[in-house]
Amino acid sequence: MQPFDTVIRNACVVTAADIFNCDIGIRSGRIAALATDLPAGLTEIDAAGRHVTPGGIDSHVHLDQPTGDASVMADDFYSGTVSAACGGTTTVIPFACQQKGQSLQAAVDDYHRRAGSKPVIDYAFHLIVTDPTPDVLHRELPALIEDGYTSFKIYMTYDALKMGDREILETLSVARREGAMVMLHAENSDCIAWLTERLLAAGHGAPRYHASSRPMLIEREATHRAIALAELVDVPILIVHVSGREAVEQIRWAQSKGLKVFAETCPQYLFLTADSLGCDDSFEGAKCICSPPPRDPANQQVIWDGLENGSFELFSSDHAPFRYEGRDGKKANGDSPTFDEVANGIPGVETRMALLWSEGVRTGRITPQSFVALTSTNAAKMYGLYPRKGSIAIGADADLVIWNEGQRVELTNQMLHHNVDYTPYEGMQLTAWPAMTLSRGDVVWDGEPRGVAGRGTFLPCARPVPAQTRRRQNELPL
Ligand code: URP
Ligand code: ZN
Ligand code: ZN
Repeated sequence: MQPFDTVIRNACVVTAADIFNCDIGIRSGRIAALATDLPAGLTEIDAAGRHVTPGGIDSHVHLDQPTGDASVMADDFYSGTVSAACGGTTTVIPFACQQKGQSLQAAVDDYHRRAGSKPVIDYAFHLIVTDPTPDVLHRELPALIEDGYTSFKIYMTYDALKMGDREILETLSVARREGAMVMLHAENSDCIAWLTERLLAAGHGAPRYHASSRPMLIEREATHRAIALAELVDVPILIVHVSGREAVEQIRWAQSKGLKVFAETCPQYLFLTADSLGCDDSFEGAKCICSPPPRDPANQQVIWDGLENGSFELFSSDHAPFRYEGRDGKKANGDSPTFDEVANGIPGVETRMALLWSEGVRTGRITPQSFVALTSTNAAKMYGLYPRKGSIAIGADADLVIWNEGQRVELTNQMLHHNVDYTPYEGMQLTAWPAMTLSRGDVVWDGEPRGVAGRGTFLPCARPVPAQTRRRQNELPL
């Protein structure tokens, strides 16, 4: 028998279901054995009893995505994937975004060109559908789903991206027929526009008013509407970046009715509040402008509860990287633009896993198995990458994280590898960080980034695992 390429000794292996001690034998990039006392590998790594989890799947990241204005995303497929790997993520799923008037295929082609030979870890694409013409819905989208682009995002806000309810219904019904997974950005566009106009007229343009322009009811209403539209069409949906109680209540209500409504949340809703956008009119708060905005400590607790009680399927970063200094990021529209002109989004692809392990697992709020489900396994199932990705099992890709725990780590931007000049979590004291990340058996982080550009491969996605998307009988003529 051929020797193992690598053996990881004395691992405390965590999957979404179990924790057990064993060695991990890796051959040709895949897990070939899980057992004690494996024969020597060509390379030996001693995990010394530390936790070993599946590499993270960050299923909500924006890399080198055209913005439609003067702002430019700071991370491309190289810096973004290096940063991901250093934080324990081994697969990213960014978005190929259709511009209005553009064909979906052109958006996908452009995005493959942007990825080029840059990625250091594996990647798949979601689509963003903004212009659901008959050709897009009836020819392009089904063909792309067949080709491995099995999930797409619909926006209910942002003028350049949003769809009206009728368009959403038409698009959801294609997802139902083709078995795709639909992600919804749920905020009420007209309410935001109405409030923004009034806030600006009153001279309230500082970053902190971003939160005032998007109160929770705006997310609650759109979440409810998204659920109703999906119920009408009889199709599963995933509500992304859920920020607090009122949206969670809608989701729990839908789930209690047996509707296939899934939900994702992100670190910003656990660790930031509206106060992170500033308590005065300084521009610094622009660093934390994202949508929906972070809320307050009571809403943070609701999100923690949702992670514990199964309301959420996914914990993703929504990494949307814009630099604070310079003229192509948060200040692309002037030195201190009003909140509505500040690029939306915050960085987080490198910090997501450690934040949740440190503040979720090590504090006892969630189990190590839930951590694995939320950061890896569920995304693999939801987006058709399972069982190749998302678990530690024979035959799965050897995408693994060995954790360092117990030592205090002060989180600073200096230690990160993204191309953004700040982290919203500067100064946080953590008690965990990945000691080593392996992608298909290659070490891509061991205290230094080791991934080589172009080693990451594109992953066509299967349709979601069937149990996730089982449909009710619907008598409507859909
Ligand atoms: O503010 C955010 N979330 N920016 C990224 C784009 C999106 O809506 O996910
Ligand atoms: Zn969004
Ligand atoms: Zn996003």
